[in-house]
Amino acid sequence: MEAIPVLEDLTQFQSYRAPIDLTFNQYLLAGSLPILVHTGDMDTAGELEPRVRSLLGSRLLAFIVISHFESDECGGLRRWLDRFPEASPVCSEVTARQLAGFGISRTALVRKPGELLEAGDWTLEFLAYPAEMHLWEGLVAFERRRRILFSADLFIRRGLPRPAIQGLVWRDEVEGISPAQVPAPDARAALQTTLAVLPVEYVAPGHGPFLKAGA
Ligand SMILES: [Fe+2]
Ligand SMILES: [Fe+2]
Repeated sequence: MEAIPVLEDLTQFQSYRAPIDLTFNQYLLAGSLPILVHTGDMDTAGELEPRVRSLLGSRLLAFIVISHFESDECGGLRRWLDRFPEASPVCSEVTARQLAGFGISRTALVRKPGELLEAGDWTLEFLAYPAEMHLWEGLVAFERRRRILFSADLFIRRGLPRPAIQGLVWRDEVEGISPAQVPAPDARAALQTTLAVLPVEYVAPGHGPFLKAGA
């Protein structure tokens, strides 16, 4: 696992899995109310915890943002909640139901598309992301002040990213969302319409390099 300081107060943790030629990324937004984006799976969470603790210092983890219910996005959640009892999971209503069904009883902060999470100097706006099983509603998060889209399984790249930060052309990225990613044409079109008007400067995906407009 590598810790890459991609922006001030924003660290990308990146683990490369050679058999599938893909990195798995988590992010720590280390402000006065720190946010973890993606838990990693159970093994990853164990490796990540001491790294997050060393960056947090005396601060407590405030929020754990979960895009959708898959093991890389939230498989390690139970471990994080055991070790950070003050942290609140933040997710869609559907994801909250999944968590409850798997016996994770900590009440999640449910966010609907368009709603915000104010966390000190970070402001996340949530957008609908049809990612769940049956294309149920998950979330991606747009950080308004620095204009970073935490895009989960959108805008991902295979391989071990070198350099760690790569360029993006936002319109091309949005147009490139494929039927393999969102198979329902209506859902894909709605997602593309929503994303196209976002003033994105950076993309922080769940897999692949951190992306910067114009880099
Ligand atoms: Fe996923
Ligand atoms: Fe993922």
